[in-house]
Amino acid sequence: MKPVRKAVLPVAGLGTRVLPGTKVTPKELLNVVDRPILSYIIAEGRAAGIEHFVFVTGRSKGAIEDYFDHQVELEAQLQAKGKLDILAELLGELPRPGEMSFVRQMAPLGLGHAVWCARDIIGDEPFAVMLPDMVMSAAKAPLAQAIEAYNQKGGNIVVVEPCPEGQAHQYGIVALDNPSGRLNRMTGMVEKPAKGTEPSNLFISGRYILQPEIFGLLAEQGKGAGGEIQLTDSMLTLLKRQDFHALEYEGVTYDCGDKLGLLRANIALALARPEMEADVRAMMRDLLG
Ligand code: UTP
Repeated sequence: MKPVRKAVLPVAGLGTRVLPGTKVTPKELLNVVDRPILSYIIAEGRAAGIEHFVFVTGRSKGAIEDYFDHQVELEAQLQAKGKLDILAELLGELPRPGEMSFVRQMAPLGLGHAVWCARDIIGDEPFAVMLPDMVMSAAKAPLAQAIEAYNQKGGNIVVVEPCPEGQAHQYGIVALDNPSGRLNRMTGMVEKPAKGTEPSNLFISGRYILQPEIFGLLAEQGKGAGGEIQLTDSMLTLLKRQDFHALEYEGVTYDCGDKLGLLRANIALALARPEMEADVRAMMRDLLG
């Protein structure tokens, strides 16, 4: 069984739900507490042992590439002012030579199309997909939990999480075969099922381990929901030929591609910082009057 070494990060979407914030700033660089969303995603990938990150970018996303490079003047200023802690933090986040690749999706035709754009860099090996607007808070990196599940079961892994009561119709939901425990064989998945028809309450939360055979299916995949080339449509075809398991990971997901989700992530992750917690609680008491 080949190991999972590479991760695809599709960052070419328009981020229309958080406009005008994303008019000139890529959604994936919006701040959560004191760092861009992507900073959390790369930290999670590294903690899971990912050796190579493949960004699928688009027009007006150049700042992402700049974020993962030296900012020479800034670094010199921090050095001169003796702000060595933050300097070390910035330098520590930079990629090792060759650790990141960037391919361009020239039109946002859908998540499936974005993943397909990475096919030549991924090659013939299993790989992770990390949706970079889904920030996950967990004691153990969620992608590491997914890779553990992959090492146990092989095939394809979809990370899932229970959705809030009565909201399954808003998400991509998995169907499971006789579920027991956290890791279960999947029998299907459905995007935004009509109320009352949800096959489970577990939504697909933005981390996947996929086999390279998905690329051949994506190449032929027609448009689906929303007129976009959907990853889930090709996954459904692959599910007829290969095993898929859903892992209910231990942790919480914040959908930072949505106004309320982004706000929630900011508050929750600030509360999780010991040096900020008391001040944030006081601020919230004050705001709530
Ligand atoms: P989303 O649907 O959440 O992102 O796709 P979006 O399209 O940017 O958001 P809205 O709905 O307009 O607000 C999940 C991820 O897939 C990427 C997005 O950048 C996001 O990180 N994506 C989506 C692409 O890279 N290309 C696409 O064609 C679509």
